[in-house]
This record gives sequence, C-alpha cells and structure tokens, in this order.
Amino acid sequence: MKIVMIGTGYVGLVTGTCFAESGNQVTCVDVDLDKIERLKRGDIPIYEPGLVELVVRNSHAGRLKFTTSAADVVPAAKCVFLAVGTPQRDDGSADLRIMWSALESIAPHLSNEAVVVIKSTVPVGTNSEAARRLRELTGRDVDVASNPEFLKEGCAIEDFTKPDRVVVGVNRPEVAAVLHELYKPFLRTEHPFLVMNLESAEMTKYVANCLLATKISFINEMANICERVGADINHVRKGIGHDQRIGFAFLFPGVGYGGSCFPKDVRALVSVAERNGIAPRILQSVDDVNEAQKEVLFQKLSAHFQGDLKGRTVAIWGLAFKPRTDDIREAPALVLIDRLLDAGAKVQVHDPVATENVQRLYGTRIAYYPSPYDALSGADVLAIVTEWNEFRNPDFNLIRQKLGSPVIFDGRNLFDPAKMRQLGFKYSGIGLETNPQSL
Ligand SMILES: NC(=O)c1ccc[n+]([C@@H]2O[C@H](COP(=O)([O-])OP(=O)(O)OC[C@H]3O[C@@H](n4cnc5c(N)ncnc54)[C@H](O)[C@@H]3O)[C@@H](O)[C@H]2O)c1
Repeated sequence: MKIVMIGTGYVGLVTGTCFAESGNQVTCVDVDLDKIERLKRGDIPIYEPGLVELVVRNSHAGRLKFTTSAADVVPAAKCVFLAVGTPQRDDGSADLRIMWSALESIAPHLSNEAVVVIKSTVPVGTNSEAARRLRELTGRDVDVASNPEFLKEGCAIEDFTKPDRVVVGVNRPEVAAVLHELYKPFLRTEHPFLVMNLESAEMTKYVANCLLATKISFINEMANICERVGADINHVRKGIGHDQRIGFAFLFPGVGYGGSCFPKDVRALVSVAERNGIAPRILQSVDDVNEAQKEVLFQKLSAHFQGDLKGRTVAIWGLAFKPRTDDIREAPALVLIDRLLDAGAKVQVHDPVATENVQRLYGTRIAYYPSPYDALSGADVLAIVTEWNEFRNPDFNLIRQKLGSPVIFDGRNLFDPAKMRQLGFKYSGIGLETNPQSL
C-alpha cells in the first residue's frame, strides 16, 4: 500500500518505518528541512533503540522515503496519516493549529480513494471537524479515520509491531477494512483490532493515558504518606500488587511523570470535560499531585542543607523523562535543575543520551559529563532522577570516593536501603521507611 506520513517525529517516524518494514511504500513528510535531510542520509534525529537499523534497511530497499513536499507524494497515497504534534495551549487545552495547517497542506492533493488517518492524540470531535474541513477544502466527502497511537518511547518499535490492540474509529466499515489490511502483519498473535466510532477512538487514547497518569500520581501520594508514618512503599506496593485486581504495572513511586504525552493529555481532557459541563476532579488532582511530586527531590535536598544550597554542588544522574529515550519534554530533571540554580547551587549532570537536548536549554549554566562518575567529582551529593539501567548496579566505592559526602537522594528507589546503609551511604528514596528524617 502507498502511505504518506505527515509529521516525522517520534510517532510518524516509527509508524512510517514499521509500515515500510512490512512491505508498504512509505514516504515521511516533514516541514523541518534539516530533519528530512538528516533522515535521507540515514542520520536519525531522535534516540529510539533499534530504529536506525530499520530506517537504513528500508531506505536502502526503496520502501521508505523522506521529503518536505506533501504535494509530490500525497496524490498517489491510499492512506495519509497525520502524526503532527498537538501541544498544550496556555489554558491546558490541545492546540490544533499544527493539525489544521497539515490538513490544509494535503487537502488539494488527495486522490478520490484516499483515507486521511489521524494518528496524533486529538480531543474528541477533532476527526469529525477534520472531515468537515476536508469537505469544505475539496468540495467532496473524504474518508477520515481515527487511529490513536499507544507506543511508548524507548520501546516504540516493539510496541508498534506487537501492539496490545489496535484502535480505529471510522464512519464506514470499508475504511476499517483498509486499516485492517495495513495492520494485519502486526496482529498475527490474535491481538484485537477494535473498530468503533470516531469519538470513542479519540476518547480511548485520552482515557488510557489519564488512567496511567492516575496510577502514578496515586502511588506517589501513597509514598509520601508512607514516608511520614514509618511505612515503606516498597512493602506496601508488593502487598497490594499481588492482588490480581490491582497488579504491579505503573505503580512505582518516583519524581512524577513527564514526557510529551501524559502531562498535556491529562490537561487536555480536563479542558474537554470542563467545556462539556463536567468538573474533572480526579484528573485535576492527578495533575496537581504530579506537579508537586516534581518538587520532592529539591525539597529533600533543601532540607538536607538546612535550606541553604548556595555554593553547594549537586550531581544529577538522569535527565530524560524516562529511560531509553532522549526526550526531555516536561522532564522532572528540568524542574530540579531550575530549583537548584535558583537556590544558588552548582549542577553537574550526566545522562546516557539526553545531555545534548538539555545543553540546548541550559548552555553553560550547568556542567555536563559523559561519564556518570565524572559528574560526581567535587559534588556534595548525588540525586538520581531517571532510572536508566546502567545506574542500577553502579560502583559504589567509586561513588563514595568521588562524592564530597556519601549522600544519595534517589528519586527512583533503585537501591536497597539496608545495603546502602551497610556501604556507609546516607540514602534517601521516595516513600521509604528508612528515609532519615534529618538527612
Ligand atoms: N511521543 C510519543 O510517545 C507519543 C505516543 C503516542 C501518541 N503521541 C501523539 O502523537 C502526536 C505526535 O507526537 P510526536 O511525539 O511524534 O511529535 P513530534 O513533535 O516529535 O513530531 C511532530 C513532527 O511533525 C512535524 N510537523 C509539524 N507541522 C507539520 C506539517 N504541516 N507537515 C509535516 N510535518 C509537520 C514537526 O516538524 C515534527 O517533526 C502527538 O499528538 C502526540 O500526543 C505521541
């Protein structure tokens, strides 16, 4: 099938590449000329495990192409996917300006058989509005389908090629049949292809992200209570997780969720609810708890230094909003860096892949280290923000040697507190019984 992907970011590039890998002819379009030139050279602008090999292989096979010109490639396409960003407006609602401009750029070039598939996360009603705008722009009815994406950065290829389910929203069963054809190679293990109306598909994506965000905020709030009352969230977590109605997934306490999806999607659904006369009390709390949780590490550090961080040096391990990605959008590490700089502290950071993106934001205001241990030289304490695998079994002797004092604030509960005590560290995690009150 001939496919055009409008928007070649995390979602568009992964989706387009995986469709090419299953034999389709795919052209990825982006307005960012530099990005397209890099992709043509096999230089991948994002970090996503396994993606380089797939892009290079499919480009060489002639199944995957890149261009800035929608006009050149849309006329021959059966499916035109829209995978452009849908960022947040100041009032929390989704900003659809990029989406509408992308729609305008394809409308004059669509063939009569083309299906426009909205893969971006968009508020309920957007697909119907897209159909209305396309009718206005083309003078005929154009098939529109909603096909929200559930991939996770860091496991994007695995998620896309082995999806738990594929959700499509359509107005006509014939459109679902086109998409089923496309997704069939990824559904061989009987994972469901769920067909529903446009509104239900749009809502499914928000409900999924909001529930996952809710689990994170819930366990963070429980961890904060545990810490105050002498309970240990790790024991509590196990105590509840074995209950099959509850389970373990997404119930790890930490420093709050970040990334390009959960924060904006929770706020966008708040906005949709309010516009429809519903007070979204749970969703609003999820967001509020998360914003507060991003401050927790700084508060612990500040308490440790009796409220005076001026002239102190803090080493930070982990900048990306989660491991296996270089994405730093809404990353908790950025909140910590801002607070530390405001308080007059010096900041030395290490991340396996996200350093360049952070450097673009902070320039020379903080120091960057390719080695986690070098980031500790001259630092008073270590704060761990992202749970990269390589931080799970570090050389504790080297950490002790390099740090001014053996103090670790762990925002991801990577280590066993008893072992840390034995090793001579003052160790503070999130919601742990052993968190020293006066660390
Ligand atoms: N990143 C994720 O993990 C993820 C997962 C599921 C769903 N989503 C959703 O998918 C959508 C895209 O997210 P993303 O992270 O891939 O965004 P992104 O910002 O990484 O990529 C969007 C791309 O679209 C390009 N673009 C903008 N206007 C364009 C136009 N008119 N024509 C062609 N290209 C244009 C931009 O240059 C950019 O490269 C969002 O709605 C997001 O919420 C993201």
